[in-house]
Amino acid sequence: MYYPDEIVEEVRMKNDIVDVISGYVKIQKKGSSYFGLCPFHNEKSPSFSVSRQRQMFYCFGCGAGGNVFTFVMEYENYTFTEAIKHLAERAGVTLPEAEYSKEVRQKESKRTKLLEINKEAAKYFYFQLRANQGKGGLSYLKKRNLSDETIHKFGLGFANMTSNDLVKYLKSKGYEDKLIQESGLASFDEKYGLHDKFWNRVMFPISDVNHRVIGFGGRVMGDAKPKYLNSPETMVFDKSRNLYGLNFARTSRKSHVILCEGYMDVIAMHQAGFTEAVASLGTAFTEGQASLLKRYVQEVILAYDSDEAGTKAALRAIGILKEAGLTGKVLSLEPYKDPDEFISNLGAEAFEERIRQAENSFFFEIRVLQREFDLKDPESKTKFYREIAKKLCGFSEDLERDNYIQAVAEKYQIGYKELKKLVLSYAAQTGLATPAERPKSGIQKKMTPEENKKKAQRLLLTWLTEEPALYPKIKKYISPEDFTEDLYKKVAERLFDDLDKGNYNPAAIISLFTDEEEQREVAGVFNTKLREINTRSEEEKAFHDIVLAVKRNSYEYYSANLGADVSALNQVIAGKKALEELSKTHISLD
Ligand code: CTP
Ligand code: MN
Repeated sequence: MYYPDEIVEEVRMKNDIVDVISGYVKIQKKGSSYFGLCPFHNEKSPSFSVSRQRQMFYCFGCGAGGNVFTFVMEYENYTFTEAIKHLAERAGVTLPEAEYSKEVRQKESKRTKLLEINKEAAKYFYFQLRANQGKGGLSYLKKRNLSDETIHKFGLGFANMTSNDLVKYLKSKGYEDKLIQESGLASFDEKYGLHDKFWNRVMFPISDVNHRVIGFGGRVMGDAKPKYLNSPETMVFDKSRNLYGLNFARTSRKSHVILCEGYMDVIAMHQAGFTEAVASLGTAFTEGQASLLKRYVQEVILAYDSDEAGTKAALRAIGILKEAGLTGKVLSLEPYKDPDEFISNLGAEAFEERIRQAENSFFFEIRVLQREFDLKDPESKTKFYREIAKKLCGFSEDLERDNYIQAVAEKYQIGYKELKKLVLSYAAQTGLATPAERPKSGIQKKMTPEENKKKAQRLLLTWLTEEPALYPKIKKYISPEDFTEDLYKKVAERLFDDLDKGNYNPAAIISLFTDEEEQREVAGVFNTKLREINTRSEEEKAFHDIVLAVKRNSYEYYSANLGADVSALNQVIAGKKALEELSKTHISLD
């Protein structure tokens, strides 16, 4: 445990979950709960619910759920300690010195140390850029039209020619070789030992949404290759769930973001006043990044390079945006290559105009498609129309599809009726697209016997939390020791204790667990909706089966681990008796 239970509880109680979540997600009261669009998966209709009474949230779409700590951890990508600090500050609670367990301390401290190392490195590079050795770097950045203010805002820096000065510096700060290597800022080989990854490059620190440096990109100042070098993924640097510039863009208060490919593009746009610009991190745009953007905006304007590769990347990104339920638009940079060059040449006003003219992503896709066809040739032209019709089948909503049919017909001078007929004939052959539904944790696979045992234990806990009145009925058969999964045992201990005392409180039980994985799992216990079973007698049978499965598993487990342990022996003897009794007993749910 990081902090005493009472403090954790105090912080939790002083942060009403509805108030906290309202600061992030638009939620509306419906009955006794609040509903909104889930920030943890992509959806068009609200399945994310928050209960003031239970002080919990739960998404019926993706299964995300938990208490106020879980929410802040997931949303802000915080550890438990970071979340509790954040919420304590919000509620004006002073935290005492944390009491760390060894295991927690190790895990937590590694993350913290990696973040510290990144921060130290960013400071070091920043300082080098202003030192004598950094002159080349500074003049390079100036040559690229960056003002002092911009260089400062983005914390740009410089990595020296010397190939191990950063390593030396970090060691002087007391960091161990292993950790320095794990930060991705240095690598090891037999010949050179531990040496810097970056040298003789201008450095772009990459921050998460909370302005913490998590990695770097470094650019050569000339034409050498590779042009950019990036930190590898580390414990703190997940390239598929962060975006360059989002730490600033998230507060730009625009209803869209501009998504581009390059660090320099983001910086140039911010400098020109477009603080809503972000870029992916030297890798292709991902679903994770799309759902990250979905938290802040509804519309994404793509400003990808105008070359062939950029167009391809834009087409891919459009697909991902669509899946995420975001509106995509494409900005034309012609005749320039990228936003940086465009702004350098034509300025901010012209760029603003291009934002206004950004093309609907569907029309962009069709325009790109058109390049493959020769519209003067009737055969090719027909093929093109067929392709358009196929694409139009992608709209599952009648009204939307019809609007697009109309717009495309007008734009390409195809008869509306003919096009509609063509679309419908394709739809008849292939079926219309159904909206994508991909719950985060919805991977269906066959369960192993181990998983089945675990599931029975979890379900029993869920039953008891949903219907605490069942507890007295099973109390004489089931004890926390019957939960052979450590996590569930811990939940059972607290839950049974609470139920005995008559003050059951799920939101408080969740905060007993500080590891993110564990929290999620425990939150799942409290949130899993039991499948609707038709009749009461079927329900009773299901419940009876679960109790029996848990008891049988416990009996087998203790029998197999008898050894010299007297308590295990007792457990086995009592277990046998309980099993016999249980198989004869009817447990009524009423
Ligand atoms: N990139 C990379 N590795 C490379 C080249 C590019 O990781 N060898 C990534 C970088 O994140 C870069 C982005 O791809 O910002 C776009 O690359 P590119 O269009 O080549 O560079 P620009 O952003 O135009 O950079 P510059 O203007 O500095 O030439
Ligand atoms: Mn460029």
